[in-house]
Amino acid sequence: MMNPRLRSQHWFGGTDLNGFLHRAWIKAEGFADDAFQGRPVIGIANSWSEATNCNAHLRTVAEHVKRGVWRAGGFPLEFPVISLSEPLMKPTTMLFRNLMSMDVEECIRSLPFDGVVLLSGCDKTTPAMLMGAASADLPSIMVTGGPMLRGMFGTEEVGSGTDLWRYWDEFRAGRLDEESWCELESCFSRSSGHCMVMGTASTMASMAESLGMTLPGNAAIPAPDSRRLALSEATGKRIVEMVAEDLRPSRIMTREAFENAIRVDMAIGGSTNAIVHLPAIAGRVGVPLPLSLFDKLSRETPFIANVRPSGKYLMEDFFYAGGLPAVLAQLLPLLHGGAPTVTGRSLAENVRGARVRNSDVIVPLDRPLGREGGTVILQGNLCPDGAVLKQTAASPHLLRHRGRAVVFESKHDLMARVNDPALDVDETRVLVQKLGGPRGGPGMPEWGQLPIPEKLLRQGVKDMVRVSDARMSGTSYGTCVLHVAPESAVGGPLALVRNGDEIELDVPARRLVLHVPDEELARRRAQWTPPPPAFTRGYGKLYLDHVLQAPDGADFDFLRGGPGQDWKPYEPTSH
Ligand code: FES
Repeated sequence: MMNPRLRSQHWFGGTDLNGFLHRAWIKAEGFADDAFQGRPVIGIANSWSEATNCNAHLRTVAEHVKRGVWRAGGFPLEFPVISLSEPLMKPTTMLFRNLMSMDVEECIRSLPFDGVVLLSGCDKTTPAMLMGAASADLPSIMVTGGPMLRGMFGTEEVGSGTDLWRYWDEFRAGRLDEESWCELESCFSRSSGHCMVMGTASTMASMAESLGMTLPGNAAIPAPDSRRLALSEATGKRIVEMVAEDLRPSRIMTREAFENAIRVDMAIGGSTNAIVHLPAIAGRVGVPLPLSLFDKLSRETPFIANVRPSGKYLMEDFFYAGGLPAVLAQLLPLLHGGAPTVTGRSLAENVRGARVRNSDVIVPLDRPLGREGGTVILQGNLCPDGAVLKQTAASPHLLRHRGRAVVFESKHDLMARVNDPALDVDETRVLVQKLGGPRGGPGMPEWGQLPIPEKLLRQGVKDMVRVSDARMSGTSYGTCVLHVAPESAVGGPLALVRNGDEIELDVPARRLVLHVPDEELARRRAQWTPPPPAFTRGYGKLYLDHVLQAPDGADFDFLRGGPGQDWKPYEPTSH
C-alpha cells in the first residue's frame, strides 16, 4: 500500500523499474510484501563491534528496538556504522569521530529511511552519532548502551579508569604488590556496558538525554538491567510516532537544548570532553557555543552529582538514586524547561514526578557539593582562545599555583624522560607537554593527565599542575589544564614555552599566564618552525587539512552547517 507521506516510498512505492528493483532486492531478505509496503522504514544505526567492548551488547539492544518498531507498525532495518573502541583503537578514537559522523550522516541520507534509531555507547560513538544525525536531519532518537555494573576489587568498589589510574600510581610507587595488580585486571569490567564512572561515555549519554534526544532515564540504566531493554523497545515504538510527527533533530537540538546540556554537564561534574563534543554537535545545526558560554553557565550551576571521578559513587548508584531525570528535576529552575524532546513533550514534562532516592548521591541544589559547575574555562596569554580545567577533579591546594615549567616537546619526549631520576623536577613545578592538540597529536589524544614522575610518587606526591593542548579521559582526575588553544602544532603560545618559564594558574580568576615578556615571546616565535605533518595521504591528510581547533569542537570545517545550508536528505529522483 502506498503511503505518499513517507520518504521511503521514493524507494519502495514506485510503479517503475526502480520501485520493482528496490522491492525485489529487499525481498531477498525474506520480507513479505506487507512487512514493509506502506510502513515507515526505521534505520537502526548500530555501532556494535566485538572490537568495542562497550558496544558489544548492542545487537541485543537492536533486537528490542526492532520489537518496538514492529509493534508500532514500522519496518526496522538494522545497519552497521563504524565503531570506535576507546581502549583498542590507535592512535586515538578522536581521530575518527568525524569520520564516524560522516558514515552515520551519509548512511541516513542515502538509504530509504523515514526515521533512525542511533545505538551508541563508548565515548566517541555517542557524539559521532549525534553529529551525523544532526546533519542528516531525519527524525532520530538515541539509545546508549548503558554503564557497566560497578567494579569490585575484593569488597572495594572500583570505578573504570578512575581507580585504575590511582592503583597504577600505587603500583609504580611500590605500594601495591604484583599479585594484587594482576588480580585487579579482572575486577573493573565485569559486565557489558561502558565505563561506569561519570567519564566521557556516561557524560555524553547524559548530554544526549539533556538535549532531549533519548527517552527519559536512558543515560544511567546499567547495561545488563532488563529496564534498558524495555526502554529500547519503547524507543522503537516512539520513533515510528516521531516519523508521523516529522520530529527532527533540528527541532530538538536548539540553542535552549544546548544550554540545558551545558548546565547538566556542570551539575554532574561531566567529562571535559563534553566541552569538545557539544560545540561539534551544535556546529552541525548552526548553534554557536563559545567557551565563554560554558564558563558563564559553570559559574551559575551548582555541582550536585556525587559520582567519580569528581565524587564518591558509581553510575549504578547514580541510577538507583534517580538517574538523570532526578538531576534534571532538581535543576529545573535553571533550565529551559519548555525545550522539546523526542517524547513530543517538553523536558519539564518528561521529568515531572522524578525524585531523588538517595540525597548523598544526588545532593539538593541548596546544599551542593560545589557552588560552581565541574569545568571552568581559563583565559590568558598562554591560551588566547581558552583552555579547560575540571575543578571538581583537581586538588584544591593547586587551584592557585605559580611554578616553573618542566617542558616535554611531545608525548614521545615525555615517555622518554618523565621517570628519569635525573629530571630536574619537584612538586612545585608545572609539567608541560606540547603536540597533543587536534593537529599535533594528531587527533587530540587523551594525554592530558601527564604522569607524575615516579621519584615524586615515591615521595608521596599525588598531584601537580599539568598543562597541555591534549584532552584527558573523562575518568581521569588531577589539576590538569587541557585543550590549550590555539594548540602548539599551529604555533599557539604553548609552542613557545621553555624549561624554567614561570606559569601561573589561578582558577578562581580563570587565568593561565605565562610570565615571559612579550619581546622574548616574539623572539622565540621568529625561531619557531611547525612540525612536519603526521600524514601526507588518506584519511589522515583529510583530517589535517580540515580539522578545527578545540573550541570549535575539532570538527571538520566543511561539516559545519545550519538552517539554510544544503543538508536535506537525499531522495531518488527517478522511480
Ligand atoms: Fe568505552 Fe570507557 S572504554 S566508555
